[in-house]
Amino acid sequence: MRRLALSLFAVALLAAAERYRPLVHFSPARNWTNDPCGIVSFDGEYHLFYQFNPFGDRWGHMSWGHAVSPDLVRWTELPVAIPEGDVMIFTGSSVVDWKNTSGFCAGVKPCLVAIYTGHQKGRQTQHLAYSNDRGRTWTKYAGNPVLDENMADFRDPKVFWHAASGRWVMVVALPKEHAVRFYGSADLKRWTRLREFGPAGATGGVWECPDLYQLPVEGGGAKWVLKIGLNPGHVAGGSGEQYFIGEFDGERFRNDNPASRTLWLDYGRDCYCALKYDGGPMIAWMNNWQYAGSLPTAPWRGQMTLPRELALKRFPEGLRLMQRPVDAVRARRGEKLLRPGGDAFDMTAEVRAGSAAEFGWKLMGGAVVGYDVRAGRIYLERPNGAFSEKFGGRAEAPAALENGVLRLRLVADRLSVEVFAQDGKVA
Ligand code: FRU
Repeated sequence: MRRLALSLFAVALLAAAERYRPLVHFSPARNWTNDPCGIVSFDGEYHLFYQFNPFGDRWGHMSWGHAVSPDLVRWTELPVAIPEGDVMIFTGSSVVDWKNTSGFCAGVKPCLVAIYTGHQKGRQTQHLAYSNDRGRTWTKYAGNPVLDENMADFRDPKVFWHAASGRWVMVVALPKEHAVRFYGSADLKRWTRLREFGPAGATGGVWECPDLYQLPVEGGGAKWVLKIGLNPGHVAGGSGEQYFIGEFDGERFRNDNPASRTLWLDYGRDCYCALKYDGGPMIAWMNNWQYAGSLPTAPWRGQMTLPRELALKRFPEGLRLMQRPVDAVRARRGEKLLRPGGDAFDMTAEVRAGSAAEFGWKLMGGAVVGYDVRAGRIYLERPNGAFSEKFGGRAEAPAALENGVLRLRLVADRLSVEVFAQDGKVA
């Protein structure tokens, strides 16, 4: 009887905890997660790897957790892909080695190669691991590390195939110098140093998690986006993301804007280490280093943002990044998952301000999404969590009305809300 009562109690606790489980955002079944890393699509699957502690709900034992999805919304968690060994497995990227440039691919099929930072106290170096079975099992390369510059802070390699120069390019952060450095390689094993970019934009904290990709510009043409994580020093406090727009010729990034201009990727407090799938959307850790360690969810701690499609659009003030949740999110409307009146919903609104000084929406948990007409600013205000005084308060962003109208997309998912204004010009 006593045992039954105890286990009923345990079930009730678990059910209470699961009440906050996000429905359309990825969260691991249990334990700690931070950055997405190594994200890649291959053979009809999206792979999401992420910084993961297999042994607990605090940062530590950093390894690559793993989940796969057909549509970026329904995720299946798989066993840990790359576990901590003699080094911690920090953030990085993966590529499909279509031409077997690495020599790691067995048989006729291309293989997946992961490039990550191996972290030891006082030393960060770049390493490889590869998989010949669609990412199910991984082998660490016996020749690791493949890049060692004898530096304590040198991390988060993002590698992609640069078609114009016919080789792999890596962009990697020099966190304390507020710079990123480019390297080139024919085989992913031997890397040649190219140019650096930075300091520029916001330099209040360390630079981490760089990404570099070309995006189409609405109306024609294409531009390169260099995206960089900043911790702390973000406009909303703590960790966040900025981006630069310009040209990349395979060796060097040229910023189109003055070095003093800062473009924020997301004005909220919870978007960090945003990385993009090659030819696909971007996904980020929906959290902030200021309070990530004390978020009161269990048995997991940490989740990702919705995957967001990216494009560039020209405005009088210049080119800006446009973001919108992948279509698979909208497809969950009408199903039981996302529905009006529920604790998870997907709302589109168009509001004519008229003579109002302010308007907005009160959400669950006491959060408010509001618009200050005179200031031309949108904000998200939330009460302080008992777990951190950095959590509460207002995060805000400039968002001018267009013909007197604010267009808004708001996805609430039990314990989080993502807001996109003016067709995703402001996140
Ligand atoms: C960013 C970061 C990365 C690092 C990883 C370690 O959140 O600090 O620079 O690779 O987390 O977990």
